[in-house]
Formats: sequence, C-alpha cells, structure tokens
Amino acid sequence: ANHRPLFGRRILITAGPTHEPIDPVRYIANRSSGRQGFAIAAAAAEAGAEVLLIAGPVELPTPPGVIRVDVETAREMADEVEQGLPVDAAIMVAAVADWRAADTAVQKLKKDGSGAVPPLALAENPDILAGLAKSPRRPPLLIGFAAETNDVLAHAQAKLARKGCDWIVANDVASDPMGGELNRVHIVTPDGVDSWDRLPKEAVARKLMEKIADDLDARTPL
Ligand code: C5P
Repeated sequence: ANHRPLFGRRILITAGPTHEPIDPVRYIANRSSGRQGFAIAAAAAEAGAEVLLIAGPVELPTPPGVIRVDVETAREMADEVEQGLPVDAAIMVAAVADWRAADTAVQKLKKDGSGAVPPLALAENPDILAGLAKSPRRPPLLIGFAAETNDVLAHAQAKLARKGCDWIVANDVASDPMGGELNRVHIVTPDGVDSWDRLPKEAVARKLMEKIADDLDARTPL
C-alpha cells in the first residue's frame, strides 16, 4: 500500500474556535477543543501532504511537519485562508463564531452599580467556507464540517447545498460531548452518505485522508 498517498498535494485546514473580542478581557466564542482539526492536520502530514493549519486559540501542540498560523478572529482566519491559496483540498473544521461584537471597547466595560447592562450589538462574520466555495481560486476538493445534535443527515445535506462545498463531514455531537476522544461521523457527498463507526479522532482523521487521496487521484491526477 502507498503510505504517502497525499505526497505532492497541498492541503489547508482550519481548526479550533475563533474569539471575537467584546473588550480587552471578554470575547464571544463557540465551544471547540480543536482536537479533530489538529488530528486531521497530523494525519495529512503523515500521508505526505504539505499542510497549512490555520488555528484559532487552542492549547494544542503543532503536529510534526505542519505549518501553523495562529489567528484570533473569524476575519483574521478568512484573511489567512485567502493567503494560503491555492490548495488541492481545504478542510474547514474550525467552529467559527457566526457573529462578532459590532464594536470592540478599547477599555474594559465596567459595572456602574446601577444594574444597567451594556448594550451588545452584533455584526455577522464572513462565512469562510461559503466564501471559498464561490472564490475563483476554489480548491478542487472543498470539505466542510457540521456539528449536529438532531436530524444529522438532513441538516448535513442541506448544508452541502447551501455552502457549495463538495463534502460535509457531519458530527453527531448529541452523544459525544465536544472535546472528547471519540467521534462518530457521516461523510455526506452528492453521491450519498458514508457512515463510520464511533472512532478515536486520530482514526477518523486517517480514514478521511484515505478518502481524500482517492478523491484527488480521480479528480486531479498528478
Ligand atoms: O453553518 P455552520 O457553522 O454549521 O457550518 C459549518 C461549516 O462551515 C464548518 O466547516 C465551518 O468551519 C464553516 N464555517 C466557516 N465560516 C463561518 C461559519 C462556518 O468557514 N463563518
């Protein structure tokens, strides 16, 4: 068997949450450990790919052989994704905050003792995955992730169409809390659904690399 099936391929991966500052000490974020995305970056490098990992704030070591760029906000992540193109495949694993504070206070917001609360206006963040799908430099293989608690497949199929990506890796998070060791995923493509057993995140990452290598070999032979 070919142990480096992604040799000669360039792969971009986003991982972790984004932090959207409210003031110097507070932020808006989604829950995300970054572990699945980092496991995917590690597996892609092991499979021989040149890997660019664009990571939100997480406490994880950089996998061997991976080029890592750290970002804080969704807008920084979107810029770094743009800078990282072109790639053969992009795997968008990050749990990007959908909204940011419309204004970031320069100084820490203070309680004034009156019980009044500060107004918190939100602005919409760019959808990095949907933006990449429409880009003239769209990667030949574009993969989104989806964490769902119910109607996993129906939501994933709808997301595939809405985002304009090639695959959605749907994560059933109802039974597995975020940050855990295991993951049960369904790979949703226009051709159908591939459902895998509950596996360690590293094993999910390795299986995903095999599937990506097969797809790229068929789509864009080297
Ligand atoms: O819409 P939802 O957030 O569930 O979509 C999840 C997918 O879209 C993930 O692959 C995530 O990385 C990507 N996404 C993104 N930019 C956003 C929101 C989601 O790239 N602003």
